[in-house]
Formats: sequence, C-alpha cells, structure tokens
Amino acid sequence: MKPQAKKIILAPMEGVADQLMRQLLCAINSYDFCVTEFVRVVDSLVPKHVFRKICPEIANNCYTDTGTPLRMQLLGQEPDWMAENALRAIELGSHGIDVNFGCPAKAVNKSKGGAVLLNEPEKIYQILSKMRAAIGNSNTLSAKIRLGFNDASKLDEIVSAVESAKVNQLTIHARTKSDGYRPPAYWHFIAELTEKYNLEIFANGEIWSKNDAENCITQSQTANLMLGRGALALPNLANVIKFNKAPMPWSELSLLLKRYSELELQGDKSFYFSSRLKQWLRYLKLQYPQAEELFNAIKLLKNKDEILHQIDRVTAALEN
Ligand SMILES: Cc1cc2nc3c(=O)[nH]c(=O)nc-3n(C[C@H](O)[C@H](O)[C@H](O)COP(=O)(O)O)c2cc1C
Repeated sequence: MKPQAKKIILAPMEGVADQLMRQLLCAINSYDFCVTEFVRVVDSLVPKHVFRKICPEIANNCYTDTGTPLRMQLLGQEPDWMAENALRAIELGSHGIDVNFGCPAKAVNKSKGGAVLLNEPEKIYQILSKMRAAIGNSNTLSAKIRLGFNDASKLDEIVSAVESAKVNQLTIHARTKSDGYRPPAYWHFIAELTEKYNLEIFANGEIWSKNDAENCITQSQTANLMLGRGALALPNLANVIKFNKAPMPWSELSLLLKRYSELELQGDKSFYFSSRLKQWLRYLKLQYPQAEELFNAIKLLKNKDEILHQIDRVTAALEN
C-alpha cells in the first residue's frame, strides 16, 4: 500500500506566504494549519501592531477566511523576551507558537538568532522551556529546525533538548544550514527520531509532487509534512498529496492568478500585484510551461489591466 499523508502544514515563507497567499492557498487546499512569517524578537516586547502586520488574521481570531488556523512564528535568542512575546502572541489569539531555529540569513545568524542556535542545543532548551512556562501546557509549542548548522552531528542532542522543553511538535527541514536550499533533502535522518522521541514530527524539504511526498513519508517514517516552495509551484499540492486530486490545470490556475489581483484591493497598500505575481511565476514556472510564457510577457509590465489581459491571452492561446 502507498504511504498516506496525515497532517499537512503550509510552511512559513517570509515575503511570499503572506496573508493574501495564505488566503488563496488555504481556500483550495485542506491544510491543517499555517505558520506565519517570523516575528523578530530581540530585547523587547514587540508592539502589537507588528504582530498584526505579520498576521492580519488576528482580526479573524487567527483563522484564514476559509477557517484554517494560523500559528505565529517567533525568531530570537533571548529566552525571557521570547517567553514574553510568545505570551503576547497567544493573547492575540495565535493557535500555538512556532519557533524558528532554521533561518540561514547572515544578519539574523550574526545577531545569534535562527540556524546558528543549532550549534547550541542547551540554548535551544533554555529558550523553549521559558516559552513553555510562559504559555502554559494547554497551548501548543512547536519548533522548526534544520539537520544542523554545518552537519547533522548535533541532531540527536537538539531534538533531545526540544523534547525536554516539553515541545509538542517539531518540523525538521531535512538539510543543514550549509546545504542552503540545494537538493536533495535528507529525509532519512528523521526516521530514527520519530521512533525515539515523544514529539509529533513533521518532515519538510523538497516535496514538489505526490511521489516526493510518498518517498518522504517512507524515508522519514512520519506521515506529517510541511510544504514550502512546492505549495507555490503547484497551488493544490496539499490536496494532490492528501486526497489524490489531479494537479491543477493551467485553465484553473489562470483564474486563481486573476483572483490574486482582486485580493490586492483588500490587502495592505504594500502589496504590488505586478511584482508579487512575477515572484510567484518564478515558482509556477517549475510546474507550468505557460507560467514561463506569461512571465516573459509581463516582465516589463506594471499595469494590472495589461497583466490581466496577458493572462487571458496565454490561456486562450492554449485553448485554441
Ligand atoms: C522565500 C522563503 C522564505 C522563508 N521564510 C521562512 C520563515 O519565515 N520561517 C521559517 O521557519 N522558514 C522559512 N523558510 C523556509 C521554509 O519554511 C522551508 O523550510 C524551506 O523552504 C524548505 O521547504 P521546501 O523545500 O518545501 O521549500 C523560507 C523559505 C523560502 C523559500
């Protein structure tokens, strides 16, 4: 029998998986929950308006408008401030808290946040245990890690620290920080951890198709998955994996791209349809040849109506 996915999360993706993208993807997929882009915590209580900017769904009790729960992600290195801000996010309605220990950004790592903490399992424990104490046992606490910084030699120690801090769920992006985003993802590293630790483990990295998801489940020995770039490249990927749905055809996708332009009107003023669509097309090109054609046709355009016209033109050319 083929391996079957259980829970699927939409990954946090800064600058890409914002409210509008979450709204669009959650309306056509059955995600168990979404993790927001990260809130950077340094040495203070982050103002509420920052939480609201990153998670406008706070106004809707932290659900997308089709009912998918949102979990806010924090990134930081000071246990006390991480704890204070975790409590603030919970008070604002976040469905649990996720902690980012995987961010490879130089600026973040230089100030001792993100993936650099993978070198210090004891610090990971201090941060998470303070956060657990602050939010109590009834709220879900989750963490997101990579296999390690340069190699996976500390992986077991890291996961042991996470478990000791009474974390409920752990997502493992199956690459080191040094691997960056280079394929492959080393899913097999996860297998021994799912057996050994009392954590609900989610596997993440390089899942672009149902076939990848099945291989990932087999190798990682967990049926819980987090989808990142694959969810952008094939917009109904979660349902392809979970319910064996057919991959979305271009004719449907073209309607979705137009819907994205309508959402712009409801979103914040910093959302520019033309640049965001071009960004999305870079991922869609991986699955749809038409996306490449559309990208070339609109790359110099800024006007929304002209872009919508090009979407229609590329789609009509296909139908004829
Ligand atoms: C543009 C972009 C932004 C990201 N932002 C975050 C983030 O804010 N927090 C986080 O934990 N991971 C972030 N990630 C990592 C993803 O959540 C995920 O772990 C990674 O892309 C691997 O999964 P994939 O191969 O399915 O894309 C980001 C990845 C990308 C491509």
